[in-house]
Amino acid sequence: MKNVQKTLLAAAAVLAASTTMASAAKLTLYCSAQEDWCQSMARGFEEATGIDVNMTRKSSGETFAQVKAESSNPKGDVWWGGTGDPHLQAAEEDLTEPYVTGMRGELNDWAISQATSAGDRTIGIYSGALGYGFNSDLLKANNLPEPKCWKDLTKPEYKGHVQMANPNSSGTAYTTLATMVQLFGEDGGFDFMKALHKNINQYTKSGSAPIKAAGRGENTIGIVFMHDAVKQAVSGFPIKVVAPCEGTGYEIGSMSIIKGARNLDEAKKFYDWALTAAAQTRALEVKAYQVPSNKGAETSPSAPDLSSIKLIDYDFKKYGSSAERKRLLKKWDDEVSTLPQ
Ligand code: G6P
Repeated sequence: MKNVQKTLLAAAAVLAASTTMASAAKLTLYCSAQEDWCQSMARGFEEATGIDVNMTRKSSGETFAQVKAESSNPKGDVWWGGTGDPHLQAAEEDLTEPYVTGMRGELNDWAISQATSAGDRTIGIYSGALGYGFNSDLLKANNLPEPKCWKDLTKPEYKGHVQMANPNSSGTAYTTLATMVQLFGEDGGFDFMKALHKNINQYTKSGSAPIKAAGRGENTIGIVFMHDAVKQAVSGFPIKVVAPCEGTGYEIGSMSIIKGARNLDEAKKFYDWALTAAAQTRALEVKAYQVPSNKGAETSPSAPDLSSIKLIDYDFKKYGSSAERKRLLKKWDDEVSTLPQ
């Protein structure tokens, strides 16, 4: 009898524990910035609030596709980071939830414009300029001149030496495609992408992979956001960062709450916290050198100085629209990716 009582008590204890666990506050975070920064944000929020975070890192285009695929039964609560265009597309397709944060007064204008243009379904968390980086040791070993412009990357001597991500999965690569169309016109932009294709050794899934490969000496030139190239350089790899001579595009890295989020209160808490100066300053610990959207967040002297870079007037409204993003990606799939190299 005593044994039966003991077993029943133990079972009750297990049940009580699992009920408490089930009701503990939690948050499912989809993250599209670099992995170490995603981890730091997840742990920082846990420490600040006691809310458990379940985080997965996927590239911007992949996360957009996942949020869309799950829309009838949403599993994620907040999508933090990644280029703004797919966040804008998600807003237009009613996949994300409007939210007006009390943190607005602390943010740069470009972060608020991102929110305003999307009916408050997204907001800017950082910005950064597109460019490329190269491994100077490999360049020398191959007797190659230092490239300075976008058009240099299409020269035959760089065949097999250039890497970029696939614009379907990666926001970095979609920003590259949209930048070329804005810099050189629709035909000129696609002519550039076709000529570049001949020199590409691999289209990676994630945007920053090409410069990590260059850092490891497995690739010569990587088309990435300039801050991703700076991170490799300050980590001690022989990487030089280039702001292309023709001018370049940029991103407004964004954050959105997923429509139908199961943990909406926690999602709003994360959203507000992620916009604080303290949360954004965590970026420096992982050498994430984007420009933060909170005016009070610290920036590193190593961060690319956007005011000294020739930036195009990137049309986020157009290139973040559902129709334009779909059209450009299909055209790239049909006319560029299928070409022989
Ligand atoms: C890197 C950059 C971020 C950018 C992100 C996009 O992590 O540091 O600034 O938003 O790439 O990632 P993706 O894999 O979609 O190109």
